[in-house]
Amino acid sequence: MNSNQQHDSIRAVLWRGDRLRLLDQRKLPFVEDYVDCMNAADVAQAIRDLVVRGAPAIGISAAWGVVLAAQRGREEADAALPLLRAARPTAVNLMWALDRMGRRIAEGADVQGLEREAQQIQDEDLAANRHMGELGAALLGENTGVMTHCNTGSLATAGYGTALGVIRAGCSKGKIVRVFAGETRPWLQGARLTMWELMRDGIPATLVSDSAAAHLMKSGALQWVIVGADRIAANGDVANKIGTYQLAIVARHHGVKFMVVAPGSTVDMSTASGADIEIEMRDPEELLSHSGQRTVVDSALAWNPVFDVTPASLIDAIVTERGVIEKPDAKRMQALFA
Ligand code: MRU
Repeated sequence: MNSNQQHDSIRAVLWRGDRLRLLDQRKLPFVEDYVDCMNAADVAQAIRDLVVRGAPAIGISAAWGVVLAAQRGREEADAALPLLRAARPTAVNLMWALDRMGRRIAEGADVQGLEREAQQIQDEDLAANRHMGELGAALLGENTGVMTHCNTGSLATAGYGTALGVIRAGCSKGKIVRVFAGETRPWLQGARLTMWELMRDGIPATLVSDSAAAHLMKSGALQWVIVGADRIAANGDVANKIGTYQLAIVARHHGVKFMVVAPGSTVDMSTASGADIEIEMRDPEELLSHSGQRTVVDSALAWNPVFDVTPASLIDAIVTERGVIEKPDAKRMQALFA
């Protein structure tokens, strides 16, 4: 087993020729169940309902959704593109993958051609993650403590992960000696998914409540916060899971460095700054209940934005498969992503 395969056993998006099989992330960590999507509408529904989630994984799934549609004819494929695009608004990987599939359709690709394109999108993502793992780990010193947020691992990508890929690589090299995961209220991607991935792949990690982050950083246990991204604007502002912004502020206050790890498919040079990124609002019920059980009085209201924007000025490094951008700004973004 090479060091890339070590600590990397999970695959969540599985193409089966006539269906897309998705590991149902709503049920993890205690139930490992799969949902079979038979057409593009099933895939769009799975993305909306968070059966599959994480920016790269929803882009890859949408590409396979287009293949399922194309198996029924050109008209179905054309109709699938806007249907899938509307599934979630913030992660630009979704639009990026659909634009790529749309271009192949416009060029007259047949079903096999579209299948090759979707497979390539998936394979490129895995390769990018492994490369980013190396680039990100190279930034770390010895005896490093890290904290991550949400889930950016194999579940959220084609495999290996973005921020979690850097953590995998950093652990393999012996540079990372402490890993903390924030639980990521309200959907608990950190508690339910990241802790499951890390335990399964033999990486010791400690769960903390989201509100413990400042206290933890003050203790000196952390040298880096390492997170993923759903969209990176042309000026280096980063949209990611709600709570990322406050982690970046707290990290800067305590002299802890802040790294964002994301493939080029997450970079959106047509969005000038974070202010132009649409932030997904989800059902307030996600906050008002827990595991189907109401936890808040009936008359209460809730506000549930599920992403926020971290300004580039709070970010020490953006790691992409094209290279590392330290202290990102519009000029440095432009130099790598013109
Ligand atoms: O709502 P989710 O679970 O899809 O949000 C996921 C995140 O915010 C991740 O940090 C991001 O997509 C990067 S995944 C490699």
